Amino acid sequence: MNKITVIGAGNVGATTANVIAQKDLAREVVLLDIKEGLAEGKALDIWQTSSILHFNTRVTGVTNDYLKTKGSGVVVITSGLPRKPGMSRDDLIKTNAGIVKEVTERVIKYSPDAIIIVVSNPLDVMTYAAFLAANKAPNKVFGMAGILDTGRYKAFLADALSVSPEDIHAMLLGGHGDTMVPLPRYTSINGIPVTELLGPAVIEKIVERTRKGGGELVRLMGTSAWYAPGAAVAQMVEAIVDDQKRIFPVCAMLKGEYGLKDIYLGVPVKLGKDGVEEIIEISLNAEEKKLLKTSAESVQTVMKVLDDLKIF
Ligand code: LAC
Repeated sequence: MNKITVIGAGNVGATTANVIAQKDLAREVVLLDIKEGLAEGKALDIWQTSSILHFNTRVTGVTNDYLKTKGSGVVVITSGLPRKPGMSRDDLIKTNAGIVKEVTERVIKYSPDAIIIVVSNPLDVMTYAAFLAANKAPNKVFGMAGILDTGRYKAFLADALSVSPEDIHAMLLGGHGDTMVPLPRYTSINGIPVTELLGPAVIEKIVERTRKGGGELVRLMGTSAWYAPGAAVAQMVEAIVDDQKRIFPVCAMLKGEYGLKDIYLGVPVKLGKDGVEEIIEISLNAEEKKLLKTSAESVQTVMKVLDDLKIF
């Protein structure tokens, strides 16, 4: 790919640009921030690792100059404030909705064909806001959360089982919040169902820690995470750029799937050059359906707050 843009040179944006560059996914990564010099500095720092880490992707930083993002194939939006201890992701909506709207409109002006990946919180509703602002087909506007959340889930399982996290395969549904729905029934260790290897109490503890995984890090660091979020976005970008048709949990627009309509929510999708190429409906038992419904309702409550802001 010729050009990938990352909006926001905070911890998540800069890490995303760094991993994309290390994977050599484009000729150029443009990192943009509103804070004078921040994106330029971080981009230069990343670019200076190119000969050490062996990549060619040119990383460029700009201060609010959207013209430099022109013609991007993929744009990642990380703008907005991160959580502080004691805040839920939903507390950020009033600040971040306006920012995501404005950023998306400016991005689209210069890259009308770009695939947009949203990372700003509250994730599901900010992805919806970007969709409204971009006025594009929903397969080209979606959000990153599920790869991060399953990444956490897999790390906890790897510790509990003392196995390689690479051998753990898992799916997760729902919003990027404490109501997310990790699916032990769809979790295996290279094909061996996790339920064969761990008891229900241990699994439930890991599921609960996964749900609160972001908050655990906010408490430890005073701000939200960036290494795993950045790596997760880069994995989505890689699937798009290389047209890999990989199956990942992604925050996508539902049009009746799972009995839900006109809502952005985490579901398994096929990710390739056209973005979300397919939404995959897996069968759920009564308990899983109930958990997904609760998660959707929690996202709908925040969507109502967005509606009430009357910015669209
Ligand atoms: C987290 C933030 C990025 O879960 O939402 O760490």
